[in-house]
Amino acid sequence: MATNDIYILGIESSCDDTSASIIHNGKVLSNVIANQEVHAKYGGVVPELASRAHQQNIVPVVQQAISQANITKEDLNAIAFTKGPGLMGSLLVGTSFAKSLALGLGIPLIDVNHMQAHILAHFIEEEQSKFPPFPFVCLTISGGHTQIVKISNHFEMEILGETIDDAVGEAFDKSAKILGLPYPGGPLIDKHAQKGNPKAFQFTQPKVGDLDFSFSGLKTQILYFIQKNNKENPNFIAEHLNDICASIQYTIVEILMKKLKNAVKHTEIKHIAIAGGVSANSEIRKRLVLAEKHWGWTTYIPKFEYTTDNAAMIAIAGYLKFLDKQYASISVSAQARLKVTE
Ligand code: KG4
Ligand code: ZN
Repeated sequence: MATNDIYILGIESSCDDTSASIIHNGKVLSNVIANQEVHAKYGGVVPELASRAHQQNIVPVVQQAISQANITKEDLNAIAFTKGPGLMGSLLVGTSFAKSLALGLGIPLIDVNHMQAHILAHFIEEEQSKFPPFPFVCLTISGGHTQIVKISNHFEMEILGETIDDAVGEAFDKSAKILGLPYPGGPLIDKHAQKGNPKAFQFTQPKVGDLDFSFSGLKTQILYFIQKNNKENPNFIAEHLNDICASIQYTIVEILMKKLKNAVKHTEIKHIAIAGGVSANSEIRKRLVLAEKHWGWTTYIPKFEYTTDNAAMIAIAGYLKFLDKQYASISVSAQARLKVTE
Protein backbone atom coordinates (compact mmCIF):
# COMPACT_ATOMS: atom_id res chain seq x y z
CA MET A 1 0.00 0.00 0.00
CA ALA A 2 1.43 3.38 -1.00
CA THR A 3 1.76 5.94 1.81
CA ASN A 4 -0.64 8.34 0.12
CA ASP A 5 -3.39 5.72 0.17
CA ILE A 6 -5.97 7.00 2.63
CA TYR A 7 -8.87 4.77 3.65
CA ILE A 8 -11.62 6.29 5.80
CA LEU A 9 -14.54 4.42 7.35
CA GLY A 10 -17.64 6.63 7.72
CA ILE A 11 -20.49 5.72 10.06
CA GLU A 12 -23.92 7.37 9.94
CA SER A 13 -26.64 6.70 12.54
CA SER A 14 -28.34 10.05 13.15
CA CYS A 15 -31.92 9.06 12.37
CA ASP A 16 -33.37 5.83 11.00
CA ASP A 17 -30.71 4.62 8.55
CA THR A 18 -27.68 2.66 9.71
CA SER A 19 -24.94 3.21 7.17
CA ALA A 20 -21.22 2.55 6.74
CA SER A 21 -18.96 3.51 3.87
CA ILE A 22 -15.32 3.21 2.87
CA ILE A 23 -13.71 6.08 0.97
CA HIS A 24 -10.31 5.70 -0.64
CA ASN A 25 -8.62 9.00 -1.53
CA GLY A 26 -12.02 10.66 -1.99
CA LYS A 27 -13.57 7.83 -4.04
CA VAL A 28 -16.36 5.62 -2.68
CA LEU A 29 -15.48 1.91 -2.44
CA SER A 30 -18.64 0.94 -0.56
CA ASN A 31 -21.73 2.62 0.86
CA VAL A 32 -23.97 0.17 2.73
CA ILE A 33 -27.33 1.40 4.03
CA ALA A 34 -29.74 -0.56 6.23
CA ASN A 35 -33.13 1.17 6.18
CA GLN A 36 -35.42 0.62 9.12
CA GLU A 37 -38.80 -0.57 7.85
CA VAL A 38 -40.17 -0.70 11.40
CA HIS A 39 -41.20 3.01 11.39
CA ALA A 40 -43.50 2.96 8.34
CA LYS A 41 -46.54 1.74 10.23
CA TYR A 42 -46.17 4.49 12.88
CA GLY A 43 -46.22 7.32 10.33
CA GLY A 44 -42.83 8.65 11.50
CA VAL A 45 -39.57 7.66 13.16
CA VAL A 46 -39.96 6.20 16.67
CA PRO A 47 -36.68 7.16 18.43
CA GLU A 48 -36.61 4.20 20.82
CA LEU A 49 -37.09 1.71 17.97
CA ALA A 50 -34.51 3.51 15.84
CA SER A 51 -31.73 3.18 18.42
CA ARG A 52 -32.51 -0.49 18.99
CA ALA A 53 -32.38 -1.17 15.24
CA HIS A 54 -29.04 0.69 14.96
CA GLN A 55 -27.71 -1.53 17.74
CA GLN A 56 -28.67 -4.62 15.74
CA ASN A 57 -27.48 -3.32 12.37
CA ILE A 58 -24.22 -1.56 13.09
CA VAL A 59 -21.81 -4.50 13.26
CA PRO A 60 -23.06 -6.29 10.11
CA VAL A 61 -23.33 -3.00 8.18
CA VAL A 62 -19.74 -2.01 9.00
CA GLN A 63 -18.47 -5.52 8.22
CA GLN A 64 -20.25 -5.46 4.88
CA ALA A 65 -18.83 -2.03 4.01
CA ILE A 66 -15.29 -3.26 4.74
CA SER A 67 -15.69 -6.49 2.80
CA GLN A 68 -17.37 -4.81 -0.20
CA ALA A 69 -14.44 -2.39 -0.34
CA ASN A 70 -12.12 -5.37 -0.52
CA ILE A 71 -9.94 -4.18 2.35
CA THR A 72 -9.41 -5.24 5.96
CA LYS A 73 -9.97 -3.07 9.02
CA GLU A 74 -6.18 -2.85 9.45
CA ASP A 75 -6.04 -0.81 6.19
CA LEU A 76 -8.15 1.98 7.72
CA ASN A 77 -6.48 5.34 8.47
CA ALA A 78 -9.32 6.88 10.49
CA ILE A 79 -12.93 6.42 11.59
CA ALA A 80 -15.41 9.21 10.92
CA PHE A 81 -18.83 9.24 12.57
CA THR A 82 -21.88 11.49 12.78
CA LYS A 83 -21.70 13.56 15.96
CA GLY A 84 -25.02 15.34 15.33
CA PRO A 85 -27.57 16.72 14.78
CA GLY A 86 -30.03 13.88 15.14
CA LEU A 87 -31.80 11.63 17.60
CA MET A 88 -29.66 11.21 20.71
CA GLY A 89 -30.29 7.46 21.13
CA SER A 90 -29.42 6.85 17.47
CA LEU A 91 -26.31 9.06 17.55
CA LEU A 92 -25.00 7.32 20.68
CA VAL A 93 -24.89 3.95 18.92
CA GLY A 94 -22.68 5.23 16.08
CA THR A 95 -20.55 7.40 18.37
CA SER A 96 -19.80 4.60 20.85
CA PHE A 97 -19.10 2.10 18.10
CA ALA A 98 -16.75 4.50 16.25
CA LYS A 99 -14.83 5.31 19.44
CA SER A 100 -14.35 1.65 20.36
CA LEU A 101 -13.18 0.70 16.89
CA ALA A 102 -10.79 3.67 16.63
CA LEU A 103 -9.35 2.86 20.06
CA GLY A 104 -9.03 -0.83 19.22
CA LEU A 105 -7.24 -0.10 15.93
CA GLY A 106 -5.18 2.77 17.37
CA ILE A 107 -6.21 5.20 14.61
CA PRO A 108 -7.69 8.74 14.69
CA LEU A 109 -11.36 9.39 15.35
CA ILE A 110 -13.07 12.16 13.37
CA ASP A 111 -16.39 13.73 14.34
CA VAL A 112 -18.61 14.92 11.51
CA ASN A 113 -21.51 17.36 11.47
CA HIS A 114 -24.33 15.62 9.57
CA MET A 115 -25.52 18.84 7.90
CA GLN A 116 -22.02 19.76 6.74
CA ALA A 117 -21.67 16.22 5.41
CA HIS A 118 -24.80 16.57 3.25
CA ILE A 119 -23.08 19.56 1.62
CA LEU A 120 -19.60 17.99 1.46
CA ALA A 121 -21.06 15.00 -0.43
CA HIS A 122 -20.43 17.26 -3.45
CA PHE A 123 -16.71 16.57 -3.02
CA ILE A 124 -16.95 12.81 -3.52
CA GLU A 125 -14.79 11.98 -6.52
CA GLU A 126 -16.68 10.34 -9.35
CA GLU A 127 -16.02 9.88 -13.06
CA GLN A 128 -16.70 13.35 -14.49
CA SER A 129 -17.36 14.91 -11.10
CA LYS A 130 -17.51 18.67 -11.09
CA PHE A 131 -16.77 20.15 -7.67
CA PRO A 132 -18.43 23.44 -6.78
CA PRO A 133 -15.85 26.26 -6.56
CA PHE A 134 -15.73 28.42 -3.41
CA PRO A 135 -17.73 30.38 -2.52
CA PHE A 136 -20.92 28.61 -3.52
CA VAL A 137 -24.49 28.63 -2.20
CA CYS A 138 -26.18 25.42 -1.09
CA LEU A 139 -29.87 24.83 -0.51
CA THR A 140 -29.87 22.20 2.23
CA ILE A 141 -33.22 20.46 2.30
CA SER A 142 -33.93 17.45 4.49
CA GLY A 143 -36.41 16.00 6.94
CA GLY A 144 -35.04 18.18 9.73
CA HIS A 145 -33.57 21.22 7.96
CA THR A 146 -34.22 23.84 5.31
CA GLN A 147 -31.41 26.31 4.94
CA ILE A 148 -29.57 28.44 2.43
CA VAL A 149 -25.89 28.18 3.27
CA LYS A 150 -22.89 30.06 1.87
CA ILE A 151 -19.83 27.81 1.72
CA SER A 152 -16.52 29.67 1.69
CA ASN A 153 -14.33 26.59 2.09
CA HIS A 154 -14.78 22.97 3.20
CA PHE A 155 -15.08 24.00 6.83
CA GLU A 156 -16.41 27.56 6.71
CA MET A 157 -20.16 27.84 6.30
CA GLU A 158 -22.63 30.63 6.94
CA ILE A 159 -26.41 30.32 7.21
CA LEU A 160 -28.04 32.98 4.99
CA GLY A 161 -31.61 31.93 5.65
CA GLU A 162 -33.62 29.08 7.14
CA THR A 163 -37.07 27.84 8.00
CA ILE A 164 -38.88 29.51 10.85
CA ASP A 165 -41.04 26.40 11.47
CA ASP A 166 -41.23 23.06 9.60
CA ALA A 167 -38.50 21.68 7.36
CA VAL A 168 -39.36 21.09 3.71
CA GLY A 169 -39.03 17.30 4.17
CA GLU A 170 -41.63 17.56 6.92
CA ALA A 171 -43.90 19.50 4.55
CA PHE A 172 -43.66 16.60 2.08
CA ASP A 173 -44.07 13.92 4.78
CA LYS A 174 -46.95 15.63 6.60
CA SER A 175 -48.79 16.31 3.32
CA ALA A 176 -48.34 12.65 2.43
CA LYS A 177 -49.74 11.63 5.81
CA ILE A 178 -52.84 13.79 5.21
CA LEU A 179 -53.25 11.91 1.92
CA GLY A 180 -52.98 8.56 3.72
CA LEU A 181 -49.55 7.72 2.27
CA PRO A 182 -46.98 5.89 4.48
CA TYR A 183 -43.82 7.43 5.97
CA PRO A 184 -41.59 8.77 4.51
CA GLY A 185 -44.06 10.27 2.07
CA GLY A 186 -41.69 12.59 0.16
CA PRO A 187 -40.64 10.01 -2.45
CA LEU A 188 -44.29 8.91 -2.88
CA ILE A 189 -45.52 12.45 -3.50
CA ASP A 190 -42.73 12.75 -6.08
CA LYS A 191 -43.80 9.49 -7.75
CA HIS A 192 -47.51 10.42 -7.98
CA ALA A 193 -46.68 14.02 -8.97
CA GLN A 194 -44.96 12.79 -12.11
CA LYS A 195 -48.34 11.57 -13.41
CA GLY A 196 -50.34 14.64 -12.34
CA ASN A 197 -51.13 18.21 -13.36
CA PRO A 198 -49.14 20.69 -11.22
CA LYS A 199 -51.63 23.48 -11.91
CA ALA A 200 -54.74 21.42 -10.96
CA PHE A 201 -55.01 22.98 -7.50
CA GLN A 202 -53.60 26.24 -6.17
CA PHE A 203 -52.00 26.75 -2.79
CA THR A 204 -50.78 30.11 -1.55
CA GLN A 205 -47.13 30.71 -0.74
CA PRO A 206 -46.01 31.93 2.71
CA LYS A 207 -44.85 35.48 3.28
CA VAL A 208 -41.57 35.45 5.20
CA GLY A 209 -38.16 37.13 4.90
CA ASP A 210 -36.36 37.05 1.53
CA LEU A 211 -34.13 34.10 2.42
CA ASP A 212 -36.29 32.42 5.06
CA PHE A 213 -38.85 29.65 4.71
CA SER A 214 -42.11 28.68 6.39
CA PHE A 215 -44.02 25.49 5.66
CA SER A 216 -46.44 25.08 8.57
CA GLY A 217 -49.10 27.28 6.93
CA LEU A 218 -48.95 25.25 3.73
CA LYS A 219 -49.49 22.05 5.70
CA THR A 220 -52.60 23.54 7.37
CA GLN A 221 -53.88 24.79 4.01
CA ILE A 222 -53.53 21.30 2.54
CA LEU A 223 -55.27 19.75 5.55
CA TYR A 224 -58.29 22.10 5.23
CA PHE A 225 -58.37 21.66 1.46
CA ILE A 226 -58.53 17.86 1.82
CA GLN A 227 -61.09 17.97 4.66
CA LYS A 228 -63.35 20.30 2.66
CA ASN A 229 -63.18 18.24 -0.53
CA ASN A 230 -63.53 14.92 1.31
CA LYS A 231 -66.79 16.16 2.79
CA GLU A 232 -68.18 16.80 -0.70
CA ASN A 233 -66.68 13.65 -2.22
CA PRO A 234 -65.36 10.84 0.03
CA ASN A 235 -63.33 9.51 -2.93
CA PHE A 236 -61.67 12.87 -3.58
CA ILE A 237 -58.14 11.74 -2.68
CA ALA A 238 -58.32 8.48 -4.62
CA GLU A 239 -59.75 10.21 -7.71
CA HIS A 240 -57.26 13.09 -7.72
CA LEU A 241 -54.14 11.73 -5.99
CA ASN A 242 -51.73 12.45 -8.86
CA ASP A 243 -53.00 16.00 -9.38
CA ILE A 244 -52.96 16.76 -5.64
CA CYS A 245 -49.38 15.48 -5.32
CA ALA A 246 -48.27 17.40 -8.43
CA SER A 247 -49.85 20.62 -7.12
CA ILE A 248 -48.28 20.24 -3.65
CA GLN A 249 -44.88 19.48 -5.14
CA TYR A 250 -45.14 22.38 -7.59
CA THR A 251 -45.94 24.82 -4.77
CA ILE A 252 -43.04 23.59 -2.61
CA VAL A 253 -40.52 23.65 -5.47
CA GLU A 254 -41.72 27.14 -6.53
CA ILE A 255 -40.97 28.35 -2.98
CA LEU A 256 -37.50 26.76 -3.03
CA MET A 257 -36.62 28.21 -6.44
CA LYS A 258 -37.85 31.67 -5.48
CA LYS A 259 -35.62 31.66 -2.38
CA LEU A 260 -32.63 30.51 -4.42
CA LYS A 261 -33.23 33.38 -6.82
CA ASN A 262 -33.24 35.77 -3.86
CA ALA A 263 -29.98 34.22 -2.61
CA VAL A 264 -28.30 34.74 -5.99
CA LYS A 265 -29.47 38.36 -5.94
CA HIS A 266 -28.16 38.94 -2.41
CA THR A 267 -24.81 37.17 -2.77
CA GLU A 268 -24.14 37.59 -6.50
CA ILE A 269 -22.95 33.97 -6.39
CA LYS A 270 -24.21 31.90 -9.30
CA HIS A 271 -22.74 28.55 -8.28
CA ILE A 272 -25.73 26.81 -6.71
CA ALA A 273 -25.81 23.38 -5.08
CA ILE A 274 -28.55 21.37 -3.42
CA ALA A 275 -28.09 18.80 -0.66
CA GLY A 276 -30.09 16.64 1.74
CA GLY A 277 -32.87 14.07 1.33
CA VAL A 278 -35.28 16.38 -0.50
CA SER A 279 -32.64 17.05 -3.17
CA ALA A 280 -33.63 13.58 -4.44
CA ASN A 281 -36.86 15.22 -5.64
CA SER A 282 -37.20 14.97 -9.42
CA GLU A 283 -38.86 18.39 -9.83
CA ILE A 284 -36.23 20.41 -7.97
CA ARG A 285 -33.54 18.56 -9.93
CA LYS A 286 -35.25 19.42 -13.23
CA ARG A 287 -35.74 23.05 -12.27
CA LEU A 288 -32.07 23.45 -11.37
CA VAL A 289 -31.02 22.11 -14.75
CA LEU A 290 -33.34 24.66 -16.38
CA ALA A 291 -31.88 27.44 -14.22
CA GLU A 292 -28.51 26.82 -15.90
CA LYS A 293 -30.05 27.57 -19.26
CA HIS A 294 -32.43 30.36 -18.29
CA TRP A 295 -30.55 32.25 -15.58
CA GLY A 296 -26.90 31.41 -16.27
CA TRP A 297 -26.37 29.57 -12.99
CA THR A 298 -23.97 26.66 -12.66
CA THR A 299 -25.79 24.05 -10.61
CA TYR A 300 -24.49 21.10 -8.62
CA ILE A 301 -26.92 18.25 -8.09
CA PRO A 302 -25.71 15.33 -5.96
CA LYS A 303 -25.80 11.79 -7.29
CA PHE A 304 -29.10 10.25 -6.21
CA GLU A 305 -27.52 7.84 -3.69
CA TYR A 306 -25.79 10.69 -1.84
CA THR A 307 -28.96 12.74 -1.30
CA THR A 308 -30.76 10.90 1.53
CA ASP A 309 -28.86 9.85 4.64
CA ASN A 310 -25.78 7.77 3.80
CA ALA A 311 -22.32 7.16 5.24
CA ALA A 312 -20.38 8.08 2.09
CA MET A 313 -21.07 11.72 2.90
CA ILE A 314 -19.73 11.15 6.44
CA ALA A 315 -16.65 9.41 5.05
CA ILE A 316 -15.88 12.21 2.54
CA ALA A 317 -16.28 14.84 5.27
CA GLY A 318 -13.99 12.66 7.43
CA TYR A 319 -11.46 12.41 4.59
CA LEU A 320 -11.35 16.21 4.17
CA LYS A 321 -10.93 16.66 7.94
CA PHE A 322 -8.25 13.93 7.99
CA LEU A 323 -6.22 15.81 5.35
CA ASP A 324 -6.55 18.90 7.56
CA LYS A 325 -5.61 16.86 10.69
CA GLN A 326 -8.89 17.75 12.41
CA TYR A 327 -9.16 14.81 14.80
CA ALA A 328 -11.64 14.37 17.66
CA SER A 329 -10.71 13.61 21.24
CA ILE A 330 -11.79 10.21 22.54
CA SER A 331 -14.05 11.98 25.04
CA VAL A 332 -16.11 13.61 22.24
CA SER A 333 -19.87 13.24 22.76
CA ALA A 334 -22.85 13.07 20.45
CA GLN A 335 -24.90 16.28 20.13
CA ALA A 336 -28.59 16.12 19.24
CA ARG A 337 -28.57 19.82 18.32
CA LEU A 338 -25.77 21.09 16.16
CA LYS A 339 -25.79 23.96 13.66
CA VAL A 340 -24.21 23.61 10.22
CA THR A 341 -21.75 26.30 11.34
CA GLU A 342 -20.55 24.36 14.44
O1 KG4 B 1 -31.56 13.90 4.52
P1 KG4 B 1 -32.59 12.91 4.87
O2 KG4 B 1 -32.42 11.50 4.38
O3 KG4 B 1 -32.75 12.81 6.42
C1 KG4 B 1 -32.62 13.90 7.26
O4 KG4 B 1 -31.48 14.27 7.58
O5 KG4 B 1 -33.70 14.47 7.56
O6 KG4 B 1 -33.98 13.51 4.38
C2 KG4 B 1 -35.17 12.79 4.52
C3 KG4 B 1 -36.30 13.59 3.91
C4 KG4 B 1 -37.67 12.99 4.21
O7 KG4 B 1 -38.52 14.03 4.65
C5 KG4 B 1 -38.12 12.46 2.85
O8 KG4 B 1 -39.51 12.43 2.66
C6 KG4 B 1 -37.45 13.44 1.92
O9 KG4 B 1 -36.17 13.64 2.48
N1 KG4 B 1 -37.34 12.93 0.54
C7 KG4 B 1 -38.01 13.46 -0.51
C8 KG4 B 1 -37.65 12.67 -1.64
N2 KG4 B 1 -36.79 11.70 -1.23
C9 KG4 B 1 -36.61 11.88 0.11
N3 KG4 B 1 -38.84 14.51 -0.59
C10 KG4 B 1 -39.35 14.80 -1.80
N4 KG4 B 1 -39.08 14.09 -2.92
C11 KG4 B 1 -38.25 13.04 -2.90
N5 KG4 B 1 -37.98 12.35 -4.02
ZN1 ZN C 1 -29.81 13.98 6.60
